[in-house]
Amino acid sequence: MLYRCLVALLLAILSGSISAGVGEGQELYDAYCQICHGGLGEGQTMGKPLTDVMANRLTDADLLSVITDGRSGTGMAAWGSSFSTSEIFDIATYVRTLQGKPGLSLGDDAAGPSDDPMVLAGEALFKGEAACSSCHSYRDQGGSVGPALDGLSTRLDEKSLQQALLNPSATIVVGYEAKEVVQQDGTVIRGRYRNDSELAVQIQSDDGRRWVTYFKDRVKSVSDSSESLMPDVFETLGAIEQEQLVAFLRSL
Ligand code: HEC
Ligand code: HEC
Repeated sequence: MLYRCLVALLLAILSGSISAGVGEGQELYDAYCQICHGGLGEGQTMGKPLTDVMANRLTDADLLSVITDGRSGTGMAAWGSSFSTSEIFDIATYVRTLQGKPGLSLGDDAAGPSDDPMVLAGEALFKGEAACSSCHSYRDQGGSVGPALDGLSTRLDEKSLQQALLNPSATIVVGYEAKEVVQQDGTVIRGRYRNDSELAVQIQSDDGRRWVTYFKDRVKSVSDSSESLMPDVFETLGAIEQEQLVAFLRSL
């Protein structure tokens, strides 16, 4: 029986008709998840929205693993022992449809790490010379001043990717805006804006590790910066290196 389920699942994935399971996914979601995440994924007191930027950015693999393993220390329990693998697929697929997406596309995730030499060279640049990983993470490794780049190829088309790399300030990813603080002695600090109150503003330090508090009455000024925190490194790379980096980003 289990064997037959798995075969059916595999066929569904291969033929791209995994969304056939949406009906059951919806039933399970309504029965077990709705109470905390809302009937349309809009979020309830005990659980966050599943349609916000954060949840939209989960890769298919992340989505499956959150549902299976939960998030320790939060209200999100592990459901792996309550549901079969195919039920979890169905629920995850339904979550995707709540996000307005076609469903799971496991093809890419199942492929594992790439062995394409362009991609590998790009990855080495990303972590090494180009120092992108000081601000960006993928598969949970790297900095947090910029957005995690997992699943990037599913959210940015070719044109938006080029723009993000060549003209970062043209559009700033929500939640990654910069603030500028001018201190009494004239020193200017720019960083990722994290928090604000009447008295103080909090800015993430460049190494990403701390949220530094600046009291508004002790600095000259605090203002929004319309410039991205992302430096123009990409422009300075050679054509081949740019190609390698793009190949790597497109593999994410
Ligand atoms: C008791 C309340 C509760 C129930 C029931 C619950 N969740 Fe959650 N869920 C949470 C909370 C709280 C979080 C946020 C965890 C955190 O802070 O990272 C969360 C996080 C998530 C996330 C990650 C969202 C993100 O943006 O990273 C997903 C996906 C998710 N839940 C799906 C489900 C699914 C599917 C079910 C049903 C099988 C379910 N949850 C049942 C409380 C719940
Ligand atoms: C000093 C930190 C920093 C460094 C170094 C950095 N970035 Fe960024 N990056 C950011 C920030 C902050 C954003 C989000 C603001 C924006 O939209 O410009 C961003 C946005 C991006 C985006 C768009 C992401 C999305 O979800 O739309 C891409 C792609 C990107 N960076 C790639 C790179 C690459 C490739 C490198 C290395 C050549 C790099 N970044 C180096 C801070 C950085």
